[in-house]
Amino acid sequence: MRDVAIIGVGQTKFGQLWDKSLTNLAVEAGVKACLDANIDQKDVEVIYGGTMSGGLFVNQEHIASLLSDFSGFKNIPSIRVEAACASGGLALRQAYIDIASGLHDIAVVGGVEKMTDIGGHSVTKALATAASQEWEAFFGATFPGLYAMIAKLHMHKYKTTEEQLAMCAVKNHKNALNNPFAQFHKKIQVEDVLNSTMVADPLKLFDCSPVSDGAAAVVLASKQKAKELCDAPVWISGSGHATDALSLHDREDITTLKATVEAAKQAYVQAKIGPKDIGCVEVHDCFTIAEICAIEDLGFCKKGEGGRFTEQGNTEIGGRIPVNTSGGLKAKGHPVGATGVAQTIEAVLQLRGEANGRNTNAEIAMMHNIGGSGGTAVVHIFRR
Ligand code: COA
Repeated sequence: MRDVAIIGVGQTKFGQLWDKSLTNLAVEAGVKACLDANIDQKDVEVIYGGTMSGGLFVNQEHIASLLSDFSGFKNIPSIRVEAACASGGLALRQAYIDIASGLHDIAVVGGVEKMTDIGGHSVTKALATAASQEWEAFFGATFPGLYAMIAKLHMHKYKTTEEQLAMCAVKNHKNALNNPFAQFHKKIQVEDVLNSTMVADPLKLFDCSPVSDGAAAVVLASKQKAKELCDAPVWISGSGHATDALSLHDREDITTLKATVEAAKQAYVQAKIGPKDIGCVEVHDCFTIAEICAIEDLGFCKKGEGGRFTEQGNTEIGGRIPVNTSGGLKAKGHPVGATGVAQTIEAVLQLRGEANGRNTNAEIAMMHNIGGSGGTAVVHIFRR
């Protein structure tokens, strides 16, 4: 396998962007990434685009062709990748495999979602298509509801508290204050989270990621091209991908996301490192409990200790392992198909020392992207 580098990044602001279409967003991110990589349209050989549900959110499918058409890369191969909220992370992995195998030398990886054109009820229904229709959605389960069950069991088994969950949201809102692309620039306190509207007991409004529009893109290159084009490439040193039962009831223990454990194992083995070597990580905090499970399943603390580990400040910038320096899904926003690519961009900015106001001086960074309640997990490790 050949070495693969990230040589350019670009993202739109995340939020309720009613003046921009799905294509506007995708093209803006893609053009920014190509400019950052200092490449022309003619240099791009292939596109991988992650998006969850153009059909349900904006009545648009056949996204692969749409992306190459509107970004001006007509006639090159373009592949749409779908794995619910892990679509962006999986698009990165597919492009990595493509370039590592020697098929192409330069790829643009994009992630995009336009979720706010339809009402809240329709969004919840569209997102629930990523859960099992037969066993979960049919009975009225939604993603806040499914993650609430995980939270309840975690609290019961490990004495995790609502305050500890809230601390993830408080930290991520604080980090987002320094991210100009974040949806929310609003400092909150633990009491704000605890007093916010109940969504699905014990998860309240501020325990949830929001509904968002946005896009993100990165340019991947083979070692030879990266050295020609870029002074400071960021290398993909580990890539992992695993799946698990789609429904919670089919899992051994719903407080462990086995897909995360397996994907992380693959990435650590490939990168020849362990959790102690990671300098910062973007984890999939679609709900605060998801951040707690992720830091345990990725090996930063023992199973059951995620709440206390967070309370002790270990996941703050300056702590043992800074988590979600971008603001995470909670405060940066969660346009589902774009999330995995945006997490990758934060890792790249951290390694380049360009995460202004939130730099960690990390030498090695990680991203962790989940589809649904853990049916898919993608983990990547990056180094300078
Ligand atoms: N965090 C913080 N503030 C939020 C928020 C969130 N998650 N969601 C909405 N808000 C704010 C809005 O900005 C708005 O503030 P304003 O009145 O100052 O403008 C207010 O809350 C009401 O917004 P609204 O859009 O009416 O909220 P809602 O009740 O329709 O939606 C949720 C709230 C939690 C249900 C929705 O954000 C949601 O479904 N989140 C989960 C998304 C999800 O499941 N993703 C996939 C994960 S696997």
